[in-house]
Amino acid sequence: MNSRSMIRAVSRAILAAAFGGLMLPAARAGIPGTLDVEVDKPGVPLPPHFYGLMTEEINHAYDGGLFAELIQNRTFQDPTPSSRELPIHWFLVGNGKAGLDHSDPVNSALPVSLRLDLSGGTAGMANDGFWGIPVRPDTTYTASFYAKGGGGFAGAVKAALVLDEGNVTVASASTGSINGAWQKYTLTLTTGHDAPTTAKAQFVLSATGTGSVSFSLVSFFPPTYQNTPDGLRPDLMKLMADMHPSFIRLPGGNYVEGSTFKSRFNWKEMIGPADQRPGHMGCWSYRSSDGFGMPQYLLWCKQLNAEPVLALFAGYVLNGRHVDPGSPEMAQYTQEALEEIEYVSGPADSEWGKRRAADGFAEPFPLHYVEIGNEDWFDRSGTYDGRFTEMAKAIRAKYPNLKIIATAPVKSFKPDLYDDHFYRSARQLMHQADQYNKPTGDAAPLRYGGGGWNGRAPDGLKTFVGEWATQEGRPTPDLNAALADAAFIMGLERNADTIAMECYAPLLVNVSPADPVKGYPKAWQWPTNLIGYDALHSFGSPSYYAQAMIGQNKGDVVLPSTLKVAPLVAATSPTPHGRIGVGAFRTQVEYKDIVVTAPDGRVLMTADLSQDTRGWQFSGDKWNLQDKAIKPSATSADSWAMTGDPKWTDYTIHVRARKTGGRGGFLVLWHATSGTTYNRWSVGGFGNAARCEAVEEGDREAYGPSNPVNIEANRWYDLRLEVNGHHARGFVDDKLVTDATEPRHTAPTAAFASADYAAASRTVIVKVVNVGKDPVDMTINLHGAGQIDPNGTAIVLAGDPKAQNTVDEPTKVAPRTEPLTNASASFSRTFPPYSFTLLRLQKAE
Ligand code: AHR
Repeated sequence: MNSRSMIRAVSRAILAAAFGGLMLPAARAGIPGTLDVEVDKPGVPLPPHFYGLMTEEINHAYDGGLFAELIQNRTFQDPTPSSRELPIHWFLVGNGKAGLDHSDPVNSALPVSLRLDLSGGTAGMANDGFWGIPVRPDTTYTASFYAKGGGGFAGAVKAALVLDEGNVTVASASTGSINGAWQKYTLTLTTGHDAPTTAKAQFVLSATGTGSVSFSLVSFFPPTYQNTPDGLRPDLMKLMADMHPSFIRLPGGNYVEGSTFKSRFNWKEMIGPADQRPGHMGCWSYRSSDGFGMPQYLLWCKQLNAEPVLALFAGYVLNGRHVDPGSPEMAQYTQEALEEIEYVSGPADSEWGKRRAADGFAEPFPLHYVEIGNEDWFDRSGTYDGRFTEMAKAIRAKYPNLKIIATAPVKSFKPDLYDDHFYRSARQLMHQADQYNKPTGDAAPLRYGGGGWNGRAPDGLKTFVGEWATQEGRPTPDLNAALADAAFIMGLERNADTIAMECYAPLLVNVSPADPVKGYPKAWQWPTNLIGYDALHSFGSPSYYAQAMIGQNKGDVVLPSTLKVAPLVAATSPTPHGRIGVGAFRTQVEYKDIVVTAPDGRVLMTADLSQDTRGWQFSGDKWNLQDKAIKPSATSADSWAMTGDPKWTDYTIHVRARKTGGRGGFLVLWHATSGTTYNRWSVGGFGNAARCEAVEEGDREAYGPSNPVNIEANRWYDLRLEVNGHHARGFVDDKLVTDATEPRHTAPTAAFASADYAAASRTVIVKVVNVGKDPVDMTINLHGAGQIDPNGTAIVLAGDPKAQNTVDEPTKVAPRTEPLTNASASFSRTFPPYSFTLLRLQKAE
């Protein structure tokens, strides 16, 4: 059961109890609670870089997002379906012909141009942008492109912003006569006062006459944040500025690794002017122009007054390949990392500092942290320890003050921090709010799995929670997720003696849906993301608002606090039961010889896959039947095939499985009560591990151990899963690899709290999350606070736990600020259902 259904069940139980006379029958009797805050015993200082942003090119975060460029495929190199003659996102308008030309490139970074052959009249090339081009009245845009004439053409090129409807031009400008040599042209286009606000528009370059015109690096910018050339989108920058981040982890995530060595994050190809950046294939299924490169990362830091946390490519790529420590390649990556550090933080007269200065930043950037790799626990070759050590030693020798972050356990060189990653359900992340508490009593043994440590890092090392999120709400979190997120951050704050930094991930998502007419996919790849936008609009999710509330109200020291609140009542669960299945997650797999037996050995089902798939139900992509095996026809995220009797309880599933490609492994489903609620055994995914996951109404939560396995491609494996109530044991080729019990559904806590103090303004900041359906009536005791001004401020984020913000309703869930008039050293406040409240309380002089 996930948190939402748990909370629903719990609320029903509480109401039943109330009507049964066990509780006061008042209509909105709150759950009683007490919060004791030790104002006179300040705890640990909140580290200066505690709250930050994590970033990578995913969900069109840069191209089609923060990078304000409006032309998609501006260098004509994006992968184009073979059915299309022209490069994707480009269309011919008027009378003429067009095609790619490799014969006379501008330079090696721009190896191809688009040639427009004219036939007497007017012809042009139109670009439809990133799911549209935003038009606004009274707005000045900057167009630039390389052009050259051919076949005697010496006329002008016109740049125009044209509405889809009625083909109306709302802004235009022309070059003078162009000649036969490549030259860069820059034009200014301004829309009139009567221009509409719409994203249904195109950018068109056209010419009239005969001969030909060739184009390269076509760019079109609206106004940018602080009017910086090649700059950033103002609305997104404003949203992020309002979070007051102190650092940006750049670039984090899979993007720094790349799918292959060729497409790794190669920072040296992302500096200098735009026409020197070749671009590369990103790891999230689209190409990156790299117009958003190192200078843009630095600009972002500068404009937000945030410090870079530099993630360094460390010799492992997502297809599973690595270079060996001690190899010439590793030496090269280590050298590149040292140079990257110099590019960011070296003096302007150093070799790479000079390049940064040439890119517009004479002043070195402050740099305290570097991270070696990303999620290297996926690398089962065992080389991370060596790769990390080689790079870390070189960094320590040259930059002794830099703090070095490891992304997986290492032993040969002591890092300064570990980077823990958690993508969880609301229920699980709320539980994890306490995971970094100082261990007491019979603590669970410290272990590393599923992306991080299950507690404080070993050897007294600090922790950077470098990626985390409650994954509820698509493509942005709902309020319930925001409450869990707030509770989690508050847990991190309470443990600021061991947690140095945190940043939610992913940060940005272009929420544009697929365009089936043009054949474009949806703009996003990751399920739950913090800030959403399309070509014209942007919005913060409820989780964004929770984090902005915290960022805007930072204290400098944590105040010890104790919360006592009646727990919600635990729900009872029926005997687990349901159908069986197999599945795939971005991996090519096939399954055959599927048999289900009862605990007494009786055969419940033998799947007959000799003829057809009658009796099976499929999700996601079509599944094919071939050679008595079933397999998904495409490698989409999350697809399954189910069969069997929903009433089955305990059973053993036998299946033969083979993987033929992709990064994940096998999925065996059990106790499926619907297409979105089931358990699954994942074998070979998550860095070649075996683990269990509970999926409830689409929300996924891992449980039990994550044990290493060694699933290789193109080999058949015997999988056997024995299911007994909440307990499952999984065997690969008869070897036990999984032994897990679905966590008992303990009574969840109704509320979470933390407190801190801002000395300069003498403000006590109290934060309370109420995750339940009922109000929480809290007595707040501010011990040793002296006199408290009765007038304080409450900032409240509350509403329907399933509510999400969207481009149409951007502030459906947003904080409201209200006066608080009864503050004192001991006062009461009722925290509404499903709410996150931040109180600002003033200490008298
Ligand atoms: O944040 C999305 C992805 O999740 C990151 O790229 C990766 O580090 C993690 O697995």
